[in-house]
Amino acid sequence: MSVDLSSNRLTGEIPREISELVGLVSLNLSRNRLTSQITPEIGRLQSLDSLDLSRNQIYGKIPTSVFQIHGLGVLDLSNNNLFGKIPMGSLLQTLEPSAYAGNPQLRGLPLQKMCPEDEKSPKQTVFVNKEDEDGLITQGFYISMVIGFVVGFWCICGTLIFNRSWRYAYFKFLNVVNDWVYVRVELIK
Ligand SMILES: *[C@@H]1O[C@H](CO)[C@@H](O)[C@H](O)[C@H]1NC(C)=O
Repeated sequence: MSVDLSSNRLTGEIPREISELVGLVSLNLSRNRLTSQITPEIGRLQSLDSLDLSRNQIYGKIPTSVFQIHGLGVLDLSNNNLFGKIPMGSLLQTLEPSAYAGNPQLRGLPLQKMCPEDEKSPKQTVFVNKEDEDGLITQGFYISMVIGFVVGFWCICGTLIFNRSWRYAYFKFLNVVNDWVYVRVELIK
């Protein structure tokens, strides 16, 4: 009823055949180097009470079938490479965010409720909410743009208007550019 292969150096896939152990109550594969996805057939383990796949390199989405294991009381998927959204309305959203922590690309309800002391790991700064992403175009942005334009405009035009030698140098430069372009165009013709 219980399989605990935690803290080994298992690599590769979680064998699909594991889903045939329908009497399994507890499965602990944490602290290995498993790299597969979670097989959707895991949903067949209807007796499962505890599933610990933490600290592997498991990737992909969490299959919805996990959320159909109704007796599941303990789930730990933390510190993997899972991504996508934790499906809405599943009973697993009532679990602690720590069950999903350390999966930088995983999104969903429990994670947004992550309390500040859970966000110590720098990876979790990925969970910015939408408002922060759109934060560039704000009132401050327009004010800075106007100030930038005014300052830039007067730095160039102000010096040209008020400084005679710079003005001459500038128009001389324009003439040189003009001649150069003219000669090029004629040559190409
Ligand atoms: C799985 O095994 C690890 C390491 O042996 C242990 O720390 C962890 O508590 C176990 N998980 C569960 C759900 O019992």
